[in-house]
Amino acid sequence: MEDTAKKTPAVMIKVRNLRKEYRLEDDTVVALKRINLDIMQGEICCIFGTSGSGKSTLLNQLAGLEKPTFGDVYIRGVPITQLSENELAAFRQKHIGFVFQSYNLLPFMTATENVAMPLMFRGESKRLRTKKAVAILKKVGLANRLRHYPRQMSGGQQQRVGIARAFVAKPDVVFADEPTGNLDSKTTIEVMDMIKAFARKFNQTIVLVTHDPEMAKYADRIVTLVDGKIVNDTKVAKGEKDEQTT
Ligand SMILES: Nc1ncnc2c1ncn2[C@@H]1O[C@H](COP(=O)(O)OP(=O)(O)O)[C@@H](O)[C@H]1O
Ligand SMILES: [Mg+2]
Repeated sequence: MEDTAKKTPAVMIKVRNLRKEYRLEDDTVVALKRINLDIMQGEICCIFGTSGSGKSTLLNQLAGLEKPTFGDVYIRGVPITQLSENELAAFRQKHIGFVFQSYNLLPFMTATENVAMPLMFRGESKRLRTKKAVAILKKVGLANRLRHYPRQMSGGQQQRVGIARAFVAKPDVVFADEPTGNLDSKTTIEVMDMIKAFARKFNQTIVLVTHDPEMAKYADRIVTLVDGKIVNDTKVAKGEKDEQTT
């Protein structure tokens, strides 16, 4: 019994019959239809598709940033689609991290202050928050940028701050929407290697949205969307994957 329990990874995100419509004045856009998906703990899952296929919409529903028109999303078994705004905010602070294409750092805060932010909600002392922020900023190679403001850093550096912020509180899931969309190819590799290394260390789940086939190589699994529907769901073979990332 115990052995099989250990070998079966836990479902981290469960999606059932998800549908999202956007109502415009005289038109309705069906951005997602009949989405069913189980994403496992520790899985790096890429949501792949062309522009307009519904990737960001799906990520927004999975992360509880928007309410679906129909259907449910569960994270760690919690039906997040049924939570109130306050409950949802608390749930996100505890369990979820985000990496954004445009970094979304607070411009009037230093790198250290930006990274320490997610720890504020956990009631940790300022001293401990700063200590953790500095430690993770060193891990992403920014030991000499601790007091820099976002505008004083390159895009790649800002995104490394973004990654540090997403992982500092050790969330169960990190959502990343086109995280390297504004970066050159060399920086893209650095940033993706960092995201993957953090995720592997603590067995975290990553949901990575991208239109770039190169990025999909970092994933354990590629879920392809066309017109708001899943048309393909492929697990990347272990050997192949390791070859591609080393
Ligand atoms: N807030 C919105 N209002 C109306 N339509 C939207 C909204 N957000 C997205 N859409 C539409 O939903 C579809 C999917 O968009 P999106 O999820 O942003 O695609 P992707 O991220 O794959 O480029 C598109 O047709 C888009 O125009
Ligand atoms: Mg998008």
